[in-house]
Amino acid sequence: MAKVISIALPKGGVGKTTTAVNLAASLAVAEQRTLLIDMDTFGASGISLGFTGGTINAGLYEVFNFITNFTNAIHRTELKYLDFVPCNVQNLQMEERIQRLADDRSMLRNALRSVSREYDYVILDCPPVLRGMCTNALAASDSVLMPVKPGHFGLDAVDKLFAYLGYIKEVVKRNIEVEGILLTMHEPNTRVTDITMRELGAKYKKYILETIIPKNTALSEASFFGKPAVLYSVNSRGAASYLALAREIISHNVQRAVSPLQPTVMDQLIKQA
Ligand SMILES: Nc1ncnc2c1ncn2[C@@H]1O[C@H](COP(=O)(O)OP(=O)(O)OP(=O)(O)O)[C@@H](O)[C@H]1O
Ligand SMILES: [Mg+2]
Repeated sequence: MAKVISIALPKGGVGKTTTAVNLAASLAVAEQRTLLIDMDTFGASGISLGFTGGTINAGLYEVFNFITNFTNAIHRTELKYLDFVPCNVQNLQMEERIQRLADDRSMLRNALRSVSREYDYVILDCPPVLRGMCTNALAASDSVLMPVKPGHFGLDAVDKLFAYLGYIKEVVKRNIEVEGILLTMHEPNTRVTDITMRELGAKYKKYILETIIPKNTALSEASFFGKPAVLYSVNSRGAASYLALAREIISHNVQRAVSPLQPTVMDQLIKQA
């Protein structure tokens, strides 16, 4: 059974999409069968993987409307072990409709049942608001990974998500683990970073992941050119940090892994960077 991980935080621009795309690609490099699903109607993870309207056959919109089954919405990518489901919402009418359908919290969870055995990991790129699509994602998840960018209100957003998780767990009547808090866009030796690290550490130390994602232009360039960083610039610090994150996540989940870990490929790539 796939492990389903939501990449979520109720705050914009903290690196959710960058993390979802690059974590999913890095898991795929380690030969873990991975499915990335865009839960944000803005469609940023599709753009970051080079998908355009013309290359999308069907997506979550058709699945939630029962126009097509989930398998038809799965798209292959440049990476052998990475598949992608887009959120192909093109206008306000479609946006309103999918948000209404997402009020049924079991929508995604039910859709995933048909493919769960075919993947090791399902990664969900969530929008920055908790209601609607993000709630649907959390209700389908085994765990949540929270990217935090140094600066104002990061801690508020983490507090809010922890409180909301408590509520969702009661509603769906099962556990949703915290996979970890991931520091993104990290710039060492700045006051903002130091204060954020201190505040987060004081309250959530045990959840903070070992891997830290540096601020690195290769990551923003890669998404601009529609590629994950491992394909755009494998020697960049950004690509190496997401490979290290994938290795850390795999190590959390060794007992449940179906596809054997390929540490040599990852070690080689991380060493090269
Ligand atoms: N580690 C990084 N180094 C440099 N730039 C980054 C890094 N991570 C993300 N960015 C850039 O920061 C911007 C915001 O990142 P991203 O889109 O991943 O955030 P998000 O949380 O998904 O935003 P939203 O809430 O709007 O969906 C993007 O332009 C992205 O390219
Ligand atoms: Mg995003």
